[in-house]
Amino acid sequence: MRTRLAALKASEGFIGFRTMLRFLLVAAALLPGAMARADDFRQIDYGRKLVEENCSRCHAVTSTDKSSHPDAPPFRTLSERYPIEDLAEALAEGISTGHPDMPEFVAAPEQVDAIIAYIRSINP
Ligand code: HEC
Repeated sequence: MRTRLAALKASEGFIGFRTMLRFLLVAAALLPGAMARADDFRQIDYGRKLVEENCSRCHAVTSTDKSSHPDAPPFRTLSERYPIEDLAEALAEGISTGHPDMPEFVAAPEQVDAIIAYIRSINP
């Protein structure tokens, strides 16, 4: 009886270890994905900050607000005009639409990526 109990305990211990190992392997496999999503989130969050600081004076920059400048298109409607990716070049070269109210804004590459990621996140 004692030996059977000991054997049972030993095998439980063994199963426990295997289960733990399997759990660790699954966690290790999922971790890069989770980290990539955290990166996406950070990038979108950075983009939101950038447009709040530089663009929200005129443009609607969330999925519900109204543009305070009557001619400035809300960012959530930009995808109706052109693919959001097309903005990247304009942002990197300095966005100016010929409208006198639109200030020149030249974004660093990581700022371009962040703004694009954010604007894509609020467009349908
Ligand atoms: C001082 C007000 C103002 C600020 C600040 C501003 N914009 Fe604009 N933006 C405008 C106006 C007005 C228009 C419309 C221009 C037109 O129709 O000729 C416009 C147009 C645009 C367009 C559409 C261009 C097109 O051809 O369809 C984009 C994209 C844009 N702005 C991006 C931005 C970004 C990104 C920022 C922040 C980095 C920003 N704007 C900051 C006033 C502003």
